[in-house]
Amino acid sequence: MNDGRHEILVHRQEIARRTREIARGIDEVYSGEIPVLMPLLRGAFVFAADLARQVEVDVEVEFLGASSYGGATETSGEIRLTLDTSTPLSGRHVLIVEDIVDTGLTLAYIHKLIRSRGVASLRTAVLLDKRCRRKVEVDLDWVGFVIPDRFVFGYGLDGPGGLYRNLPDITALPAE
Ligand code: PRP
Repeated sequence: MNDGRHEILVHRQEIARRTREIARGIDEVYSGEIPVLMPLLRGAFVFAADLARQVEVDVEVEFLGASSYGGATETSGEIRLTLDTSTPLSGRHVLIVEDIVDTGLTLAYIHKLIRSRGVASLRTAVLLDKRCRRKVEVDLDWVGFVIPDRFVFGYGLDGPGGLYRNLPDITALPAE
């Protein structure tokens, strides 16, 4: 993206610093356990890859896919599971890794689904929290940054036209 109009909301260095802090918290909480680190695709793929490499406890990794926006900027409210896990989760300590919480509808759905599988514990690490947009309450154990109601993309999140997930910084269009 090179239109001179976009703005960097959270710089890659800030993300890296906060990711290291979150990883230390995860190490502390899961000391002696082998949690299942569960990135929620697609948006979380970049954050989860960086977080996984900062965490020092041993982890297994399972992917889960969910979609509700389908390219739109407003959630449809209808969550679809686009990819399910491949191993049983019963009795496991699951750590969901998510890029952004907006209305909370996606995570609320995923939390219910994962809890129904008899996990030993369920925690969530999210990079961005658009708290001002919440419609349903969701428990978040680690939050990277609370952000305002701006259309953000980059670092895994899709932007205009479904592009720009590969930008290294959290980027925003100019405020209206
Ligand atoms: C985005 C994002 C979260 C969800 C947050 O996913 O990755 O999963 O929306 O919104 P909510 O709190 O209002 O539910 P999206 O449906 O755009 O799919 P993607 O991860 O494939 O981009």
